This record gives sequence, structure tokens and C-alpha cells, in this order.
Amino acid sequence: LPCYLNGESTTLPNAKISVMDRGFIFGDGVYEVIPVYQGKLFRFDSHMDRLQRSLDATRIPQPHTRAEWAQIATNLVAAYAQSTGATAQATNQLVYIQISRGVAMRDHAMLEGLTPTVFAMSNVMKLATAEQRSQGVACVTADDFRWEKAQLKSTSLLGAVFARQISVDAGAVETIMFRGEHLSEASSSNVWVVKNGTVYGPPKDNLVLEGIRYGVLEDICRAQGIPFVLRPITRAEVLDADELLLSSATKEVLPVTLLDGQPVGHLAKGLPGPIYQALYAGYQQ
Ligand code: PDD
Repeated sequence: LPCYLNGESTTLPNAKISVMDRGFIFGDGVYEVIPVYQGKLFRFDSHMDRLQRSLDATRIPQPHTRAEWAQIATNLVAAYAQSTGATAQATNQLVYIQISRGVAMRDHAMLEGLTPTVFAMSNVMKLATAEQRSQGVACVTADDFRWEKAQLKSTSLLGAVFARQISVDAGAVETIMFRGEHLSEASSSNVWVVKNGTVYGPPKDNLVLEGIRYGVLEDICRAQGIPFVLRPITRAEVLDADELLLSSATKEVLPVTLLDGQPVGHLAKGLPGPIYQALYAGYQQ
């Protein structure tokens, strides 16, 4: 696979970094995952805004202008398409970019003056299956034992790895987490509750990653006249949802119909509901 490392176009087997990279030693880095539809980056500016927020908070210098990032991503999309013998326009891809603080002898402090390690790659985007869309997916619940800077898209992801494995072990698609009695998010997705025709999501604070789909779903809701409300959501509201939804770059918007082994959602029959259908149609449009 083609990739980008520190200013060079290369391939994954040839891309090498130092074992002293702080991304490796401390998980001291930030990342973005950008979906690409028919060769076009989707909501690129929102991803760049979020990347900047992550960099600012972690005091890692921005290595590139937005125009340079667009060029790096576009080149990768073209190179990946070429490696599969397709045109870029014929492919849906997922661009991953990561910036770590750089290489230094081990020291926990946010050392200044390092040269960030900049890596990017693109791969095919694996979207939800037709069956997952028609039946909905199974999720499990767990306490949110991650840290209190969940708003940062940090490469320190061991908490997310633990969280995701809970659902893997249960044969489920995601782990929906609660801080006490309040919904936060899933291991790598945001979570939405539909009640009486309104879409509810947890507030954009330090306890959830503000997925780019916060903005996408808000736009779709506005266009379709569906009320969209961000406020704390209780466990009871999740269990009693008319519809329960996940969102992420690859899940787009996806219905949850089984939670901890019990049917959840549309009229408690465990079926995808009408708001999901409307949001998914809007998303595809
Ligand atoms: N995960 N919450 C968490 C903890 C996430 O890691 C993600 C994304 C989201 C959804 O964000 P977005 O809508 O911008 O994809 C919410 C990405 C896809 C990942 O880590 O691969």
C-alpha cells in the first residue's frame, strides 16, 4: 500500500520510524480518519479543524498547511486507486493521518523543539453491510473507564482498545459506554437516541469525541425538519429509546437493535426505525 511519511511518498513495508518515536513510547500523538467517496474527501475542513484542536491541546506543532494536507491526502487517494487498478473516482477510501510529537530520549514532559513524525495512508473504506443496515447491529454496554480528555483524537487508545474488546468478546459491533448514569459514546463511534421524533446526542464536552458526524447529522436533521438536541442522556433513556444509533466515518449512521442481548429500538421490536431511514437517506444524498 502507498503511504506518506515525513515528506516522502513511500509504501507501508518501506515506511520506517525510530523506536524512540514518542508515538510508540507514549502514544503521544494525534490522528484523523477521513472518509473519501468517489475520490472526494468528505468534510475535509471539519477534520482539519478537529486536527488543529487536538494539536493545540497537546502542544504539538502543526506540520502542514491545510492546502498541503489536501495535497497529501489527494495524492494518497490517487496512489491507492492506482495500486488497485481503478480510477480515484471509482473508489471509496479511508484516509488515516497521524502526527506524533517526534523522536526523543524517554521523558514524559511535552518536550519542545522536536520534529513531529507525520504519517498518512489510504485504504479501501469498509462500510456497513446491507444486512447490518436492514437488521441493525448488536451492542453491549460498559462503564466508560477511559480518561477525561476524550474530546482529543489522541493515538493513546488503550482505553478504546479495552472498550472495543468487550464487544468483540460478546460478538457485538460496539461497546456503548456510560459515565455513571450518563451516556458518553462507544469505543470508536458516537451514540444517538431517538425519542418521539427528536434526535438526542450527548453534549460536546471533554467526555466524548466530537465526531464529524455531529455536524453531518445536525445538517441532515435541519434539512429534514427533525429536531436535533444535545444534552446529557441517561441510561434509562438509552434503554427506552425509540431508536438507538451509532455514527462514525465508516459506520456513517447505523441502527442498533440489540443491546446487551435485549431488543432495543423501534417499538421494542428490535428493528431499524423511520428516523434512521431518513438520516441514512440524507447521508447518502
Ligand atoms: N473513530 N468517538 C470515538 C471515541 C471515535 O474514535 C470516533 C471515530 C468517533 C466518531 O467520529 P467521526 O464521526 O469523526 O468518525 C466517536 C475513528 C473512525 C477511528 O478511530 O477509526
